[in-house]
Amino acid sequence: MAVRVAVVGLGGIGRNHCRIYKEHPQAELVGVCDLLEDRLAAAAQTFEAPAFRDLERMLAEQRPDVVSVATAGEENGGDHCAPTLLALRAGAHVLCEKPLSNRLADAAVMVAEAARLSRCLGVDLNHRFSPATAQAKRHQEAGDLGQLLFVRTYLWIGNRKESAPYFHLRALHSHSVDVMRHFAGPVQEVQAMFAKGPGRQIWSNAVINLRFCDGALGQLLGSYDMGGTHDIEQTMLAGTRGEILLSNATCDLTFRPHGRGERTHTPQVGGQASFGETMGRRLGRFIEQVAAGARPEEIEGSGEEGFQAHAVVEAAIRSHESGGALVRVADVLAAVDRG
Ligand SMILES: NC(=O)c1ccc[n+]([C@@H]2O[C@H](COP(=O)([O-])OP(=O)(O)OC[C@H]3O[C@@H](n4cnc5c(N)ncnc54)[C@H](O)[C@@H]3O)[C@@H](O)[C@H]2O)c1
Repeated sequence: MAVRVAVVGLGGIGRNHCRIYKEHPQAELVGVCDLLEDRLAAAAQTFEAPAFRDLERMLAEQRPDVVSVATAGEENGGDHCAPTLLALRAGAHVLCEKPLSNRLADAAVMVAEAARLSRCLGVDLNHRFSPATAQAKRHQEAGDLGQLLFVRTYLWIGNRKESAPYFHLRALHSHSVDVMRHFAGPVQEVQAMFAKGPGRQIWSNAVINLRFCDGALGQLLGSYDMGGTHDIEQTMLAGTRGEILLSNATCDLTFRPHGRGERTHTPQVGGQASFGETMGRRLGRFIEQVAAGARPEEIEGSGEEGFQAHAVVEAAIRSHESGGALVRVADVLAAVDRG
């Protein structure tokens, strides 16, 4: 039986969710919801789905199995908490856009509520869902990298919005931190420096150094001043036995074993030609996991993982505010009520 999906928030990203669900063989789009009449009417017509201005009415009448929360709000996450809680309490599993929230305390409430109700909560941390990233993970699990020593990631795009001092950090970098955590595990401590790009009022550039609990060291470069760049995202993994470079916005993979081994460069792993395809893979995976009856703790790119990535971002902000001091992620987490 198809998974009944509804989408709340019909901006560019919510409309993408609708299109992906319409095309997914295991999903049926049973409702679309937005507060704005024009967006709602347009999406209902394009995707041939019942329209609702009121989320609670949509939940009561359509009883979706899954709700995609693609609202935005302050720092692109401020509006996510309320619809997520409504959907969970109506019995739906939720796939929430990133960041889970711009407030770590709200993200904790969302994760705790999903756990209390035994509902699956996924985050659209789509960057880890590219075939090249999956192949890099298989190399790592096969021991090809040896012990991981370094993870270096850059994620940089152009975004001229000047909405809040830490917009760039909170809106964008749960993605990059999640990819780094995917390979290197939990982060112990961070040290950050931020800068304002030319003509900017917000902290639009960042360098964040990370020490992972398992001993690896990491560095993340981020920017909202790199409009027109030819590669928005790269991750380099270096271990005692080899190195991997994920490049071309996580589409290509280069593997270099140490010593006499051959270097292999694989462009467009798994046929993925553009970064845009990662969202379909991520949403599709959530649908597949729900359809297969996955338990909440089995969800890939889960609410908990989104929350932990957010905590690292908050640790970086705290480091920046204290002049580049080392900040333990555990201290950031200790200040949050986990319910
Ligand atoms: N995963 C990714 O790669 C990726 C990329 C870009 C953006 N995003 C995220 O996608 C989200 C949406 O981005 P966008 O650019 O489409 O935003 P947007 O502001 O254009 O659209 C959000 C929509 O949500 C609606 N909305 C807000 N609260 C609502 C409520 N309670 N009920 C019904 N409708 C409500 C608004 O009216 C608006 O139309 C953001 O969180 C953003 O961070 C994710």
